[in-house]
Amino acid sequence: MSVNKEVKRITTHILQEMKQHGEKISMLTAYDFSMATILDDAGLDVLLVGDSASNVMAGHETTLPITLDQMIYHAASVVRGAARAFVVVDLPFGSYQGNSKEALNSAIRIMKESGAHGVKLEGGTEVVDSIQRIITAGIPVMGHLGLTPQSIYKFGTYTVRAKGEAEADKLKSDALALQEAGCFGIVLEKIPAKLGAAVSKSLHIPTIGIGAGPDCDGQVLVVNDMIGLTKGFKPRFLRQYLNLYDGIKDAAQAYIRDVKGNDFPNEKEQY
Ligand code: KIV
Repeated sequence: MSVNKEVKRITTHILQEMKQHGEKISMLTAYDFSMATILDDAGLDVLLVGDSASNVMAGHETTLPITLDQMIYHAASVVRGAARAFVVVDLPFGSYQGNSKEALNSAIRIMKESGAHGVKLEGGTEVVDSIQRIITAGIPVMGHLGLTPQSIYKFGTYTVRAKGEAEADKLKSDALALQEAGCFGIVLEKIPAKLGAAVSKSLHIPTIGIGAGPDCDGQVLVVNDMIGLTKGFKPRFLRQYLNLYDGIKDAAQAYIRDVKGNDFPNEKEQY
């Protein structure tokens, strides 16, 4: 029996119960009202307004350029479409790394101006002060470990993280520190499946994996990748459920043909 079947709104408490009952958490990114409405209607537990909006919505190479104002715009649109899902929003690069007060102010802006239900930020022990301060203000925080795209210029590559013992040990202790700080969940991105399993087992809060194996407590994908809108992006962890790129292209070409051939609009499509 599903923990969350009859609930009006998914909460952090319900996510915790889902972990306890072994019910997997489904999470996808969303950036706009229309998509959020569909995903919420489909029954997603969590919608992540990811800073991947910087890539898939704005066409930037990295997540670094997106601003707090832009994230709030996307988040407010998603919140208007999400009747039941828990909506969590990424704190963008540069909006929380300075100090815990800056982090709190950014989180408050997201909550006040978008109506979202929680925030996510990247990093381990180095962001614990900020996490604690945000949580003290009553804002649920989700952590993000492993491949943290805001640090891409430090890593130099989007390859799998924590394959070596030292980085794996640091990730394990970071995960415990985030749990201790009060995070309601942690995204684990692109790490070995064995490590994803070990971290998930060691925590009482849920882990949500993206390229972190099947033993995380939930899974997340970037929706544009999952529905095949992003052309040519096929990492091993991605399961593509649709090929919307070709579907939309075919539709657009059919429309061009109809317009140029004087077939659209026909008698029934005019006043
Ligand atoms: O920004 C994003 O979409 C994310 C997911 C990849 C977890 O953080």
